[in-house]
Amino acid sequence: MTRRAVILGGTGQLGAASARTLLEHGWQVDLAHRGERGVPAELAEARSVSLDRSDADAVERLCRGADLVLDCLAFAPADAAVHGRLVGEVGSVVVISTASVYRGENGTWLDIADSDETFPVLPVPIDESHPTVDAVDDPGYSPQKAALERALLAVEGLPVTILRPGAIHGPHSPALREWFFVKRALDGRERVPLAHLGQSRFGTSASVNVAELVRLAGEHPGRRVLNAVDDPAPTALEIGQAVFAHLGHAGEFVLLEGPPVDGVGGHPWAVSRPVVLSMAAARRELGYEPVGTHRATIGAAIDWMLEAVGDADWRERFPALSNRYGAASWFDYDAEDQALAR
Ligand SMILES: NC(=O)c1ccc[n+]([C@@H]2O[C@H](COP(=O)([O-])OP(=O)(O)OC[C@H]3O[C@@H](n4cnc5c(N)ncnc54)[C@H](OP(=O)(O)O)[C@@H]3O)[C@@H](O)[C@H]2O)c1
Repeated sequence: MTRRAVILGGTGQLGAASARTLLEHGWQVDLAHRGERGVPAELAEARSVSLDRSDADAVERLCRGADLVLDCLAFAPADAAVHGRLVGEVGSVVVISTASVYRGENGTWLDIADSDETFPVLPVPIDESHPTVDAVDDPGYSPQKAALERALLAVEGLPVTILRPGAIHGPHSPALREWFFVKRALDGRERVPLAHLGQSRFGTSASVNVAELVRLAGEHPGRRVLNAVDDPAPTALEIGQAVFAHLGHAGEFVLLEGPPVDGVGGHPWAVSRPVVLSMAAARRELGYEPVGTHRATIGAAIDWMLEAVGDADWRERFPALSNRYGAASWFDYDAEDQALAR
């Protein structure tokens, strides 16, 4: 009999990639979303369901009897409640958390890091047994995700796989960080300064790799928490090189010692210390093999974004890039040129 998957957030970057992987493996897929974005053409085989994640009754009705529920839209402990209502009614539940739940050995975490001192000190690589943020009353993103994880694991009998992705990239991304390099290639920038000698590593996650983990967790229900990142983690320099290679741009990277100075050399992966996650548990528990490295998978994301931007203003087409990641300040070429001239 055909297995049925429900994806809450089905038209987003993770939902779409997971749907495609599941369809390719013979699953029937229901894409639940509010309808603000269209259903990607390549998912015509899937069923589109209009629903708001906050309507627990509608979520319960749709998910009952599913073999797999992928929840891309759980952010706080209260979001675990609907899964509690579905114990015994679904085969496997996969909930997307984040790599930023890890608590540094200095007691800090990514959301509150604003200097080298407050940047979390984390082992390299981080495995899933490392402590997570335990500031339940803090309304921030990572404390709430960590509390959500605990709430899910507290639901007795829930076959839940919690995935912790890093910086996600893929087609349908609302905020592709690689735009930092893509736009420089489009603008013909010949020299790109990179702080920390371009060696910063902040784990990336190709949506197709996360999708493969979703499929495996769907086929092997269990109660587990797994990192969900590209393996190996690329350096910022390698990310830039991959983007330029895909676009055939021959720009040079100028590697600067130390942190960015007045923003020059800064980039979306510039971190004081590495945030590198181990994928050993996924390999061990699910027999996971990555679909591809960052370099092998980034091209599809770039091509999709270039087509999506078209002739439009990228800031209007992708407001989350500016609003959430501060991309509006990424392209101060005058400051960059002056610093490089010195
Ligand atoms: N972006 C990253 O780098 C990153 C890193 C680590 C973890 N994460 C986690 O990844 C998850 C986000 O997944 P994503 O990147 O695939 O998201 P996304 O690309 O922004 O897509 C969100 C999807 O959810 C739908 N949606 C949004 N609000 C909804 C609601 N209230 N009810 C029903 N559908 C709704 C959207 O469609 P409509 O708007 O049409 O409803 C869309 O299908 C989050 O849990 C986030 O914490 C993200």
